[in-house]
Amino acid sequence: MRNKVIAGNWKMNKDVHQTEDLINGLKNALDFELKNVTVVVCPPFTSLETAVRLIKGTPMLLGAQNMYFEDEGAFTGEVSAKMLQAVGCQYVILGHSERRQLFRETDDFINKKVKKALAAGIIPIVCVGETLEEREKNITHQIVSSQVKGVLKDVSASDTERVIIAYEPVWAIGTGRNATPQQAEEVHLLIRELISVLYGPATAERLIIQYGGSVKPDNAGDLLAQPDIDGALVGGACLKADSFAAIIKAAIL
Ligand code: 13P
Repeated sequence: MRNKVIAGNWKMNKDVHQTEDLINGLKNALDFELKNVTVVVCPPFTSLETAVRLIKGTPMLLGAQNMYFEDEGAFTGEVSAKMLQAVGCQYVILGHSERRQLFRETDDFINKKVKKALAAGIIPIVCVGETLEEREKNITHQIVSSQVKGVLKDVSASDTERVIIAYEPVWAIGTGRNATPQQAEEVHLLIRELISVLYGPATAERLIIQYGGSVKPDNAGDLLAQPDIDGALVGGACLKADSFAAIIKAAIL
């Protein structure tokens, strides 16, 4: 049985002071045993150090929202996997649709980061998902399959087991319109079957596949009850301690 991984993607929200408030709020709200659930918070870079200090001694783990694939050098504005590791990040979100759309990130570019994160011992949470236009054209399966293959190019089976794939349909992000549990499950199963073909059934069975896109306390339970949905990547609802805690609670068996 796979554990559930609930990650909060804070996006470009919360300065260091607000980070303190939110993490302290989460510490209070997480007053229950997490059992089968791993909780990851992914604040902006400027809050990583504050967050890591505050989550010490709690079950919460730290993730970043992006990184570059080079180790160091003249790459103004970028941070490396090693820098994330040194600050205490165990996870990094890569290839989020906002980065694909606003910053023109491609599967090839994301693939370089995935390999670098794995080499540094950081678990990449790699995002894939179709746009509304692609869904309406009935090419969701092709789009998602090609993204999964692209971001995992030249990644070994044993490394793939450490990767988390986040299926985030673009039309469900920040819209309040989540994929139905059936729509999400269909794509999660497709991803697992693809991994089985590429890497074998054992790797596919171990792969954590999160759903993201308007996950809220009132829909989390139904989504997380699907056999191939192993967690959630939460945006808006992770910015308040109570709602993030309620989603985490919904993942506990
Ligand atoms: P929302 O939960 O705000 O829809 O955002 C989802 C997301 O993009 C998480 O990475």
